[in-house]
Amino acid sequence: MDTINVLFATAEAAPFAKVGGLGDVSGALPPALRNLADGALDIRIIMPFHAAVKKHNPPHRLIGKFTFEANGRAIETELFVSEISGVPVYLLDNESINHDSPVYHGDWFLDGMKYGTFSLALLEAARYLDWKIDLLHANDWHAALSVYALKTIYAIDPFFTGIKTILSVHNLPFNGWGSQEAMSSLGFEPSSDPDLPDWAKFTPLPLGISAADQVIAVSPNYAREIMTPEYGCGIEEYLRKHAEKVTGILNGIDETLWDPATDSAIASNFTIEKIEEKSRNKLDLQKALGFEVNPDIPMLTTVSRLSHQKGIPSIFKALPSLIDLPWQFVLLGTGDPELERQASEISALHSDRIACILKYDDVIARMLYASGDIFLMPSLYEPCGLSQMFAMRYGNLPVATSTGGLADSILDFSVDPKKATGFLYDEKNETGLEQSLRIALRVYEDKNEWPIMRRNAMNAHFSWQISASKYLDIYRKLLA
Ligand code: GLC
Repeated sequence: MDTINVLFATAEAAPFAKVGGLGDVSGALPPALRNLADGALDIRIIMPFHAAVKKHNPPHRLIGKFTFEANGRAIETELFVSEISGVPVYLLDNESINHDSPVYHGDWFLDGMKYGTFSLALLEAARYLDWKIDLLHANDWHAALSVYALKTIYAIDPFFTGIKTILSVHNLPFNGWGSQEAMSSLGFEPSSDPDLPDWAKFTPLPLGISAADQVIAVSPNYAREIMTPEYGCGIEEYLRKHAEKVTGILNGIDETLWDPATDSAIASNFTIEKIEEKSRNKLDLQKALGFEVNPDIPMLTTVSRLSHQKGIPSIFKALPSLIDLPWQFVLLGTGDPELERQASEISALHSDRIACILKYDDVIARMLYASGDIFLMPSLYEPCGLSQMFAMRYGNLPVATSTGGLADSILDFSVDPKKATGFLYDEKNETGLEQSLRIALRVYEDKNEWPIMRRNAMNAHFSWQISASKYLDIYRKLLA
């Protein structure tokens, strides 16, 4: 079979730029696909040349400059190339991308211009390179307009005929609403797809979904959820009607980078066989935070963006109701200023057992995964979620809402205690969390049950290879 040429379009790719899970996925999936396909796949990443990339400063070189027209406006673009794990990474720059910019401005006109021009420029870059792509794999609203542009602005352009398209949905509520003014000024026109609700006919993510040959949600359960009013953000009916092109593939994690046996960020490395070593990490953490130093006290941890999506308020409400039980709690993360304030308040009130570290720090994150016994993940919705996978691998059992990828990756205690890897609950609020955490704390005391669950969790595999083979199947099916 001929080599398949895939252009993978994304706003973020770790380690160059990572705001959230999209960055992890975009930095890991293309290399996994490339390795798996063993020469049969020429996959290349394309992303904006953000300030974050500049700061990371990977070796890169200018390939060239080209100008294209959008709605009569000439857009001068610079194209650079770098590499992540053997996969070429094209970096695009133009006046609206402006490589001093943050990954996301948070200003809708600026973001609309940045990602609108990015979506057009990434197609023009393929033309400039004279690289015939078979498949465009775009991610989230930021690149969704490239899929739409292929079916509209570029529909009769001979260079782009026959390209198949995939749109990956990492987070449906972030649909690009607000970029309409920018889209108009770049010459995009509303969709004529009668199945889209009116508001969605000129909103980036729904436009991409409607134009794509295949839509992939980041977990099978999320693919089902987005067809319901609760999670569908107003396009559930569209998705239900076009269910044949919607599927879900669970993300993976890099099991070599996330391995408690070798992780250099943690003081005492451990494995299932040498699980005693794990508790040394907890003792160190207790000492460092001025908590009671005692291996028997369960350590609760959370590593998360502080946002409502992540259900953080339910933690602050549930913990005081459990104050009579022994536990300690450490949170790491930044985000919503109001949630940061609540975090500081609760840790000041219970400084002997609660610590909230308001920053993002990879080393501390790893220390928390390693030191923790129970990992709290009370997300209101979670398309996939990666932290629960990291936590399980480090023997830190998740207590999580039964939603999206959490339900796909965690095996609940109540279903089968012998096989379980964590605790899931349905009621997405502080009461649900409190009840589930009570069960987890009780099982923690059980010297037989807990080690079995911890072993199951550490043995659960979420490698990228498994996910990549599912993506590759879809690539091949689309092109067959
Ligand atoms: C988004 C989702 C998260 C998912 C990640 C990568 O950040 O909120 O659940 O794991 O994308 O797909």
